[in-house]
Amino acid sequence: MGGDRITDPEDRPDEEEVDRALRPRSLEAFVGQESARQKLGIFLEAARQREEALDHVLLAGPPGLGKTSMARIVATELGVGFHPTSGPVIERKGDLAAILTSLEPRDVLFIDEIHRLGRAVEEVLYPAMEDFEIDVVLGQGPSARTLRLDLPPFTLIGATTRTGLLSAPLLGRFGVVERLNYYGREELASIVVRSAGLLGLEVDEQGAGQIAARARGTPRIANRLVRRVRDVAQVRGVTVVDASLARDALDLLEVDALGLEELDRRLLRCLAQTFEGRPVGLGTLADSVGEAPDTIEDVYEPYLLQEGLIARTPRGRVATPRAYRHLGLEPPEGEPALF
Ligand SMILES: Nc1ncnc2c1ncn2[C@@H]1O[C@H](COP(=O)(O)OP(=O)(O)O)[C@@H](O)[C@H]1O
Ligand SMILES: [Mg+2]
Repeated sequence: MGGDRITDPEDRPDEEEVDRALRPRSLEAFVGQESARQKLGIFLEAARQREEALDHVLLAGPPGLGKTSMARIVATELGVGFHPTSGPVIERKGDLAAILTSLEPRDVLFIDEIHRLGRAVEEVLYPAMEDFEIDVVLGQGPSARTLRLDLPPFTLIGATTRTGLLSAPLLGRFGVVERLNYYGREELASIVVRSAGLLGLEVDEQGAGQIAARARGTPRIANRLVRRVRDVAQVRGVTVVDASLARDALDLLEVDALGLEELDRRLLRCLAQTFEGRPVGLGTLADSVGEAPDTIEDVYEPYLLQEGLIARTPRGRVATPRAYRHLGLEPPEGEPALF
């Protein structure tokens, strides 16, 4: 199963297609995130009534919680064009200028991973966001001139896994900042039922509950699990997925009762066993499991923290007693101050 990672398959085109097919297309169909949904609903209704561009929106939260879906929905509901790009893709100021000058009034420009924009590029955004204008440099050397261009009023929607990495001037230019949180069981179960339906699979309530329980609070993972469960159902000739089939399929994927997969467990074992409960720095931890520190911090750690399986101390990460018990280990004596 080593190659079949569930948490981080962004680079798998087949998975991306499924993501797209299962994406909710209206605020109505978007399950959960009540507060973000309500606020955006009001703001975009108001913008629509005034026939103005919606204020710039920043969506923050771990991968797979619906940032891209939400951004698309906003454009759809506003009835305007949607122009997706991402921080690392916009390498030069000119790239961003080209995108900005091609926008129609009130269009949505979506910049995924906006915290990864280069500094120089980011600076082009400031006047664009604030005054809808950019400065373009024409020519080179002593004869170069700066030309100020007016842009149509547009809405920038930025998505980021980490608000903390955004510079203050950029953060300050977003009128709306919404954090998406991990989904509850019930919400995930209804996403599971919906996605299964779209994939032509019937799942009963207990089956959906099983899948939801192991989806790490994340719709993208719920959808991925649904797909794998569908494979098992198909091979076994089962037409309705119940709890036992769901459990079998998830065991096969080595997704445990807390929704942890192999790499999560390796992280926990590393803290609990290799380092024997001593606090471990991010870099060391990343090295010992063979993952990039960013991936650990953005993708794996938030859920382990939220589930109370690891804790951050000033000296590094530690496994909590709950993690020890989950691994079937005895929590260490002493030093309870760490937890
Ligand atoms: N609220 C939701 N309701 C239903 N499905 C959702 C929801 N949020 C996300 N999804 C599903 O999860 C997948 C990943 O969502 P996406 O918007 O790409 O997340 P992000 O951009 O935050 O990584 C989507 O393709 C969609 O199928
Ligand atoms: Mg996304």
